[in-house]
Amino acid sequence: MNKWNSLYIYYISGTGNAKASSEWIGDEAEKAGLRSVIQQIDRLENIRMPDNDERPLIGFAFPTHGFNCAPIMIRFIAGFPRGLCREVFLLNTRAGMKLSKVFLPGVSGVALLLPAFILWLKGYKCIGFRPVDLPSNWIPLHPGLKKKVIESIFLRCERIVRNFAVRIISGKKVYKGLLTIPLDLLISPIALMYYIGGRFFLSKTFIANSNCNNCGICIRECPTASIKLVSDRPYWKLSCESCMRCLNLCPKRAIEAAHGMAVAFWIIFTAINTQIILLLINALNINPEIWWWKLASQVTGIACMILVAAVLYRIMHYAMGFKPVSYLVRFTSLTTFPFWRRYNFLKTRKKKRISPEKVMPT
Ligand SMILES: Cc1cc2nc3c(=O)[nH]c(=O)nc-3n(C[C@H](O)[C@H](O)[C@H](O)COP(=O)(O)O)c2cc1C
Repeated sequence: MNKWNSLYIYYISGTGNAKASSEWIGDEAEKAGLRSVIQQIDRLENIRMPDNDERPLIGFAFPTHGFNCAPIMIRFIAGFPRGLCREVFLLNTRAGMKLSKVFLPGVSGVALLLPAFILWLKGYKCIGFRPVDLPSNWIPLHPGLKKKVIESIFLRCERIVRNFAVRIISGKKVYKGLLTIPLDLLISPIALMYYIGGRFFLSKTFIANSNCNNCGICIRECPTASIKLVSDRPYWKLSCESCMRCLNLCPKRAIEAAHGMAVAFWIIFTAINTQIILLLINALNINPEIWWWKLASQVTGIACMILVAAVLYRIMHYAMGFKPVSYLVRFTSLTTFPFWRRYNFLKTRKKKRISPEKVMPT
């Protein structure tokens, strides 16, 4: 007799990677005779929990954001009821790339460790830790990967995830995600900084350019309901987790990351901070040759920019109502250029491989 008679996966997915992984696991569970219930936790409504008479295996799947678990999943796990089962597993999707024939992995940081710790505090034991290097969707950082590369990464990862599912369902433990603990811990300060400040700044780089026809898809699809209309243009709230769903889904390619503006603000703040630091150096009679003051002005420049990002964003959003500003912001953004591809997983693979309705109540 199987140790479990049902599988529950709770997942969050910006651009479909964690969703696809959850479906592959669900598929393997059904092959093994388990009833699978795969739910996205987007709007945190009507989440089904296992019944008392079930013997469930519970899993959580989520993307890695800033070397950490997506915040919406951290909140979900923090509020997850105790005592529904004994054993759980975690799967984080990361930024997979391919250079020539070599598959490059992403970096987990504390994406597995933090949720595992919270679950442990709640009395759950993690029997599976699995990072999966699906195509990177971090579009403000790099152009979307080519279709052929996406296909080959997906084929590889599907095999990996199915294999993971078979092992977990058969009662084996998989600790693959813990092999990189030293590197992950080394990176944890960056994860913390991103969690506290970085993610708020990132949400304040999104703008909708003049191609936007107010179709409302971004507002409807946002997993954290973080986009609203202000002056008839989408406006990103601080609760945005930069999951990239809006940017990749927009049929008009109207959503951009305002690179030019971010760099301009950084330069302005760095220049102001340089002057302040120089004044301090003079006032305190410190040798101006010391090496760290230039670095300090860069770092404090970034910090100031993050601190006032929400205010700057409000001003920029208003100013974009004027055509010259709108064009300036748009054409200083790398994402506007045709070579800066989007990550079109949802468009390119939905029809080919996945039949979401089979396992997925939305
Ligand atoms: C804001 C942001 C931060 C990210 N941070 C990381 C990271 O720290 N490490 C990593 O390997 N991938 C990172 N990624 C890449 C995603 O985790 C990866 O593409 C994931 O597979 C996306 O899954 P999804 O389609 O289910 O959202 C990041 C992506 C975004 C948008």
